Amino acid sequence: MDDTELIQAAITEARQNAYAPYSGFRVGAALLCEDGRVFLGANVENAVYGLTMCAERVAVANAVTAGCRSFEALAVVADGPTPCPVCGACRQVLAEFGPETRIIMANIAGEVKKAKLKDLLPTAFTNEQLFNEKR
Ligand code: THU
Repeated sequence: MDDTELIQAAITEARQNAYAPYSGFRVGAALLCEDGRVFLGANVENAVYGLTMCAERVAVANAVTAGCRSFEALAVVADGPTPCPVCGACRQVLAEFGPETRIIMANIAGEVKKAKLKDLLPTAFTNEQLFNEKR
């Protein structure tokens, strides 16, 4: 699946199911795994605002639940003025599974911005720190 198809999947298969009654900001994500499978995520808001789940983290949870932990690329799309940035919390969650993941940010207007996760979150905290601890 190429980047354009991944963006389309994020829009037509994920974002359309976003539950965003509070912000009205619907986000779709499509996560391409090393084995070629694609997992989807949409933002899921809550009346307790802080419990809101971002589309990207929903996609990661779906992939991991299905046994995929190696990610090639993530497309994230919303109807904003610029390609949808990935929030800091989602960058950290993605970093758990590898710095090389390609992040494809897009908006409904068709603007696209691409970056590697390691460039979006340099100096990420990873399990390397924990495994180095002498206990
Ligand atoms: N949101 C995402 O799903 N992903 C992001 O990277 C940024 C923000 C959602 C959370 C919330 O439901 C809405 O967008 C507004 O913040």
